[in-house]
Amino acid sequence: MANGSIVQMALLLCFSTTALSMSYDVLQFQQRGSISACWTLIKQLNGTGHSCLQNTIDFKFPQEIQPQKFQKKEAMLVIHEMLQQIFDLFTRNFSSTGWNETIIEKLFGELNWQMDHLEAALVEIEKEDTFTWEKSTTRQLLQDYYSRIGKYLETKLYSRCAWIEVRRHILKNFSVLDKLIDLIFKN
Ligand SMILES: *[C@@H]1O[C@H](CO)[C@@H](O)[C@H](O)[C@H]1NC(C)=O
Ligand SMILES: *[C@@H]1O[C@H](CO)[C@@H](O)[C@H](O)[C@H]1NC(C)=O
Ligand SMILES: *[C@@H]1O[C@H](CO)[C@@H](O)[C@H](O)[C@H]1NC(C)=O
Ligand SMILES: *[C@@H]1O[C@H](CO)[C@@H](O)[C@H](O)[C@H]1NC(C)=O
Repeated sequence: MANGSIVQMALLLCFSTTALSMSYDVLQFQQRGSISACWTLIKQLNGTGHSCLQNTIDFKFPQEIQPQKFQKKEAMLVIHEMLQQIFDLFTRNFSSTGWNETIIEKLFGELNWQMDHLEAALVEIEKEDTFTWEKSTTRQLLQDYYSRIGKYLETKLYSRCAWIEVRRHILKNFSVLDKLIDLIFKN
């Protein structure tokens, strides 16, 4: 009986270690898939009609956001912040664009799903890493960047062309998310 429970315990430990490393693989796979799904959904928000004058707005994506520079935890927090900010942007008034609400709903679902999984993974590494995000300059730079985008939309009264410009920028910076995901799972 006693021996049986030791074996059980050993098996349990063995399985949970495997489960952890396996769940990291799964997490990477899921995160990649989710990033790509979000990209595709935003890409589908196109809308027909007149073309817009090519605006050349520079929202100044922070130069400091260089994926290779981040530790695992900070990279995860940067991804989370970017997803949250993108989410918040799409909760603004896009009625001028005629964008399909179903696609927006799917996008929200995907972003939420991904943020939930990042949060769960962050809890795991919380104990071993004392980095604090609250006071991070990276966080501030990101928030300022998305705040410039928000201000632009406000100033342009959420016009269709302003949204199209914003969407273009968001899509362009998805490459940063891809690089960050790669970084998280490197060793
Ligand atoms: C919008 O996207 C849909 C699906 O991705 C595509 O079928 C359609 O041709 C696109 N429309 C324009 C105007 O690009
Ligand atoms: C949303 O923006 C449009 C213009 O694009 C405006 O007509 C409408 O009143 C706005 N709706 C809200 C709830 O602010
Ligand atoms: C919106 O998108 C959904 C799913 O992608 C599609 O089934 C639906 O027909 C679209 N609605 C319009 C009005 O284009
Ligand atoms: C982010 O997008 C802007 C255009 O909005 C571009 O100038 C910049 O190079 C992009 N940054 C990265 C790292 O992809």
